[in-house]
Amino acid sequence: MKITGRTKVVGVIGHPISHSLSPIFHNAAFEYLGLDFVYVPFSVRPEELKTALRAVRALNIVGINVTVPFKEKVISYLDELSPEASSIGAVNTISNEDGKLVGYNTDEEGFIRSLTREGKFDPEGKSVLLLGAGGAAYAISFALIKAGIKKLVLTNRTEEKARRLLSHLRKFFKDKCELCFLEFSRRNSPEVMRKVDLFVNATSVGMRPDDPVLIKPHLFPQNTFVYDIVYNRETEILRAAKKRGLSCMGGLDMLIYQGALSFEIWTHQRAPVEIMRKALKEKGCCVI
Ligand SMILES: NC(=O)c1ccc[n+]([C@@H]2O[C@H](COP(=O)([O-])OP(=O)(O)OC[C@H]3O[C@@H](n4cnc5c(N)ncnc54)[C@H](OP(=O)(O)O)[C@@H]3O)[C@@H](O)[C@H]2O)c1
Repeated sequence: MKITGRTKVVGVIGHPISHSLSPIFHNAAFEYLGLDFVYVPFSVRPEELKTALRAVRALNIVGINVTVPFKEKVISYLDELSPEASSIGAVNTISNEDGKLVGYNTDEEGFIRSLTREGKFDPEGKSVLLLGAGGAAYAISFALIKAGIKKLVLTNRTEEKARRLLSHLRKFFKDKCELCFLEFSRRNSPEVMRKVDLFVNATSVGMRPDDPVLIKPHLFPQNTFVYDIVYNRETEILRAAKKRGLSCMGGLDMLIYQGALSFEIWTHQRAPVEIMRKALKEKGCCVI
């Protein structure tokens, strides 16, 4: 990579950020296409978020990905939102258009592309059990309902957050899908599990080897598809799903597709998804 006076800078803000895999596959894609761009991780302390956004303008940074814990908070510093970012209430991509900061959410489309293209799973008419009610769960529930699922059962450790997400969804999709709350303590009950076509773990649980195992995949029927959006390792849920012979996938493909969509917003060029995946594989990241 050769950095010159004309090199365009994009990057990611988060706290912490050192674990980010995005620089690996974005920089590989820029290099492959011969684009004069560089992708840089920026560790931003929460109290510096406003200053960091002003710096994006001041330094003429072309685009920024946004990760934990800023996806919701960043909205108040932006000039405009895409319809998806506005309805989900979270931004993971910012485009600096001549000083105007526009916020997008590519997690929604990134999730559905990974599920349908890589997982070969068609969500239409299916029953889904979704675990989690954080930013990722918002994007994923929007994606699944728009893709035509029949029923969404939502559970989360903090009940209030699950109920908040459900009432948010009801505002947008009143009659489009059956929306149900499930008490967290009932998540492994056989009468719930036997009706699940697709299970999604949208929590951060599983990132560390000593994390609790929240779901017992051996209780799912043989045709259940298990999707764990954790992407830094093969989680215990995925390992158990594989052992049971269920179709399953981890979060790396969602990471790649949401990144590919950000890439396209910034560069106006089609993202080389296979090159991005290869770059991660070469770094030892497990693409399931
Ligand atoms: N693959 C991808 O492209 C992609 C994209 C976005 C996010 N992610 C990953 O998805 C995960 C969630 O991200 P997020 O933005 O939604 O984070 P978040 O807003 O902080 O939400 C975290 C979620 O995890 C739950 N949780 C955390 N610790 C728990 C525990 N010990 N037991 C039960 N539930 C627990 C939280 O439950 P409470 O509400 O009870 O706290 C909440 O539902 C992160 O690991 C992130 O890296 C992956």
